[in-house]
Amino acid sequence: MADNRAPTSEAPNESVPLWQDEFSVSQSGERYVNRRQLAKFLTLTSLGMFAGNVWIVVRSWLHKTPVYASSVVARVGEIPVGGVKLFQYPRPGEQCIMVRTAEETYVAYSQKCTHLSCAVFYSRQENRIECPCHQGYFSVHDGSVLQGPPTRPLPHVVLRRDGDRLVAIGMEPEV
Ligand code: FES
Repeated sequence: MADNRAPTSEAPNESVPLWQDEFSVSQSGERYVNRRQLAKFLTLTSLGMFAGNVWIVVRSWLHKTPVYASSVVARVGEIPVGGVKLFQYPRPGEQCIMVRTAEETYVAYSQKCTHLSCAVFYSRQENRIECPCHQGYFSVHDGSVLQGPPTRPLPHVVLRRDGDRLVAIGMEPEV
């Protein structure tokens, strides 16, 4: 039976190799296309980077520095030198520890160990903050790590004296 179908324009051209036939750009146009493709690539990349930067700016703008509420922790002289008071800050359930290290000096930190979150306590004997889980020790003066395994200092609660009250006003670093 004879094939009655008319030849289509997509029929392969016998005189041109298949790889060249399927490639729609002639050799003379290659340079132009490459330049155009490069320009397209650069434009799209620039747009992508621009969009990424806008996203970072918007995100940082939305996640501004948290505003901490002021919270009265204790009255001045409420605890003796070497004494400790536990309190919750900046949110309920977030346990912190305040230590009176000298007559006029109070320090406060998050009570959550920066290693695996065990509750730290103040050792009056050693004058340091200790974690019972893996013997991580922190300086009571600035919360820095004295002995591993923790690698980060304890978050510091910023205290302000307001008359005869000690008021927590923030965290450093922010949490
Ligand atoms: S949890 Fe504190 S040292 Fe490991």
